[in-house]
Amino acid sequence: MPDSIHHASGPQGPSDPVALARSPTWVPIRSLAPRHRDRILAHLLRLPERDRYLRFGYMASDLQITRYVDELDFERDEVLGIFNRRLRLLGLAHLAYVDSHDGLPATRAEFGVSVAANARGRGYGQRLFDLAVLHARNRGVQTLVIHALSENTTMLRIARKAGAEVVREGGEAQAVLRMPADSFQSHVEQLVEDSAAEWDYRFKQQARQMSRLLAVLSGSNPTTDGPRAPPD
Ligand SMILES: CC(C)(COP(=O)(O)OP(=O)(O)OC[C@H]1O[C@@H](n2cnc3c(N)ncnc32)[C@H](O)[C@@H]1OP(=O)(O)O)[C@@H](O)C(=O)NCCC(=O)NCCS
Repeated sequence: MPDSIHHASGPQGPSDPVALARSPTWVPIRSLAPRHRDRILAHLLRLPERDRYLRFGYMASDLQITRYVDELDFERDEVLGIFNRRLRLLGLAHLAYVDSHDGLPATRAEFGVSVAANARGRGYGQRLFDLAVLHARNRGVQTLVIHALSENTTMLRIARKAGAEVVREGGEAQAVLRMPADSFQSHVEQLVEDSAAEWDYRFKQQARQMSRLLAVLSGSNPTTDGPRAPPD
């Protein structure tokens, strides 16, 4: 399987920020940075064998995943995540911009995604895809590519719904999504998304710090006696 990222796709996504905020599957998605490497690694290492196979196109070992995370380039690429209240990553998307080799900004990107096994079917994969498409579009990307195994009906479904053309070759498939140019509205939409996600992350961070502080003050062990986490 080619690529540095493994799999991706993307439709035009919701175009109205208000409609987007009203969506029943709306969930904040944050852009990740090098300081999130540990959380990214923990998320990927939790993926069972079958999911590692679907995500990377091969049965990635712990060592291979660790190397992949170490080599993530947060300056060139974009990494997006969905956190639960414990700041554990439930969903992760990697948008890899493919160098144009002529010094011009990338016009092609590849997309890879994973959602924790216990958080599937809630629309997180779709949301990560839509937001990745929006980010890529706003960076001038014209073509988004997703490499997936032909058996990966969920990923291919997401790609097809976005309008991607899917070509199967043996056990592998490539979905190619041609994207419209960015617009004032698409930039506003990203701004709304980014601001909401930043606010949500800080709120969760503060809630976590507060619960630790309360645990210390009450003499309990914050790791064992702390408030139960919300459902993952
Ligand atoms: C692919 C993946 C990210 C989807 O995540 P998800 O959050 O469960 O997906 P969503 O809830 O957003 O569902 C997206 C669509 O797929 C459909 N779907 C979900 N699970 C499905 C399944 N097991 N079989 C068929 N369709 C499925 C949903 O119904 C939805 O379609 P709809 O909107 O038309 O109803 C997740 O299954 C995963 O992490 N798989 C392992 C890694 C992987 O395959 N990555 C993709 C290659 S990079």
